[in-house]
Amino acid sequence: MSKVPADASNSAQIDYWNAAAGKTWAQHQDRLDRQIEPLGLEAIRALAPLAGERMLDVGCGCGQTTFELAARVGVAGHVTGVDISAPMLAVAKTRSVPTDAAPPEFLQLDAQTADLGHGVYDAVFSRFGVMFFSDPTAAFANLRRALTPNGRLAFVCWRPLQDNLWMRAPMEAALPFLPTPTPADPLAPGPFAFASADRIRSILSDAGFAEVTLHAFNTSIGGASLDQTVNLAFRVGPLGAVLREKPELRAAVSGYETPSGVLMPASVWIVRAQAS
Ligand SMILES: C[S@@+](CC[C@H](N)C(=O)[O-])C[C@H]1O[C@@H](n2cnc3c(N)ncnc32)[C@H](O)[C@@H]1O
Repeated sequence: MSKVPADASNSAQIDYWNAAAGKTWAQHQDRLDRQIEPLGLEAIRALAPLAGERMLDVGCGCGQTTFELAARVGVAGHVTGVDISAPMLAVAKTRSVPTDAAPPEFLQLDAQTADLGHGVYDAVFSRFGVMFFSDPTAAFANLRRALTPNGRLAFVCWRPLQDNLWMRAPMEAALPFLPTPTPADPLAPGPFAFASADRIRSILSDAGFAEVTLHAFNTSIGGASLDQTVNLAFRVGPLGAVLREKPELRAAVSGYETPSGVLMPASVWIVRAQAS
């Protein structure tokens, strides 16, 4: 496996996705995939993959979308998944290849700094893998270089936390039991770094993309039992275990229980653009 190039600027994220976060995602991959699959499928629909195309899946993690793309481009096409997280890529490599698809390639690379080639991909895709760059404009310029002229980009990212009750409700319920958090920089690398439509447009335009469209997509995600949802929401180590026991926290999630499991509101941007 290729090594992540030494780059101080993304080193905090490289550490994070190879330690606690990467291990949690690898361990709970099936439940997380189930939760966010409909959001990735909406972005795949926006990308409209064609048989025979070459595609790059950025921040592919445990690989669910890489295989979904591989099934769409078929044996004549090819998909490469890149990610900085060794534990998540290890899961990706164990998944079975769909019938009528070529096996995807998985590379451990920093999508911001690695040489991804020039004009080699018809399309670049990401499901929640592009909000963690220390220099988003440089990262998207790197992705644009890897695209053919007029190559397509589509990704899904979170809209603001206040519109994402699946995360906000458990977080707010946990706050009284936690030390007061230090206010975070809303533009720092993290899940909500691309919550602003204006910021996305400006980054993509500076990176050389045109015809940028953003579509707000709201739906309910989840579908797991109440116990599974509480476990996943408060899953982090011994602190998570303490929180899971609190009835107040269970109540934050139980209000969303339906006959099809716990379904909580989620709100994302489906972003589409073209290399210019
Ligand atoms: C929220 S997870 C999403 C994983 C996967 N796309 C999915 O939907 O299951 C974010 C992913 O982005 C990856 N990532 C973060 N920064 C990256 C970078 N600079 N280059 C490549 N991958 C990166 C992380 O390692 C992680 O796998």
